[in-house]
Amino acid sequence: MNTTMQKISIEKVKTSKIDQVDFDNLDFGSVFTDHMLVCDYKNGAWETPKIIPYQPISLEPSAKIFHYGQSIFEGMKAYKDTENKIWFFRPLDNHRRLNISAKRMAIPEIPEAFFMEGLKALVKLDEKWIPQKDGSSLYIRPFIFASGKGFHASPADEYKFIICLAPSGSYFSGKVKVLIEEKYSRSANGGVGYAKAGGNYAGQFYPTQLAAQKGYSQVIWTDDNNHEYIEEAGAMNIFVRIGDTLITGPTSDRILDGITRKSILQIAEDEGIPTEVRKITVSEVVEAAKNGSLKEMFGAGTAAVVSPISTFGFRDVDYDLPELAESYATRLKKRITDIQFNRAEDPFGWRY
Ligand code: COI
Repeated sequence: MNTTMQKISIEKVKTSKIDQVDFDNLDFGSVFTDHMLVCDYKNGAWETPKIIPYQPISLEPSAKIFHYGQSIFEGMKAYKDTENKIWFFRPLDNHRRLNISAKRMAIPEIPEAFFMEGLKALVKLDEKWIPQKDGSSLYIRPFIFASGKGFHASPADEYKFIICLAPSGSYFSGKVKVLIEEKYSRSANGGVGYAKAGGNYAGQFYPTQLAAQKGYSQVIWTDDNNHEYIEEAGAMNIFVRIGDTLITGPTSDRILDGITRKSILQIAEDEGIPTEVRKITVSEVVEAAKNGSLKEMFGAGTAAVVSPISTFGFRDVDYDLPELAESYATRLKKRITDIQFNRAEDPFGWRY
């Protein structure tokens, strides 16, 4: 892999769009900053990245992304503290995971310097776009897709690595109701569930639309074998609290190795919360909801941060979660966001 890189070139916008943005009412991922980073893979090597004005890209209709879905992405955030210092959260873990996804999807890996130097230069250039309102941040979307052409069902010979930035508020608006899914599956052993491949998300849209018709905002996926174990939700990993114990499923071929997931686990352990990483059966969650020992369910992810679940549905029955005065979700969300926004010590060395 060619890991040497020339200086990143920067072409700035003539006029910024920032004045058109209502930073007090941001939703998730629908407004984009002035610039983006683009890096092409051609002739067996990544070329020097360029920063250019945010703009549409032109592709051949036969580009393999359109036909065979060779596409991966990452989700990360930048935060600005009260002294206007900019922070990333565990960005090297995103780089590592992007390359794990790349390998699985037969996409060339991106060298660390291209990812990190590109990321830093782009965020620095658009730093005015980092929201400072509580609950908002700059969502960062690095992605790679097959831009090379041809209908032969084989890996493309050309790719684009792009980073776009979106000042964003919360991923969910309102309560999060989830449906435990028993018919459709998100992933299978030996599949691509652990990769952040675009198709993993596209495949969830139809079952999620069906769930939305019944009033649920997310599907909780169960294993594809017998739909016996709770695995992951559409846009986040899942935690349940039974009694005082916080439990999440182990990562596998089928479950995304969430950076928020592993951080929450480490924080919980640091706080003395009993944790278990083990398979969680649907029946134990239903039983715990019935006997009152199911105290909390929440999702964890970069976009979702820590999102408490108010209700889960299973086989046409809704189970409401109690509203606790002192929930683990609130405590863990505060601790992780305090680290991310540089409001508290970072004993783990995650802030960058
Ligand atoms: C993220 O949390 O950053 C993700 O990539 C999930 C996505 C569905 C918003």
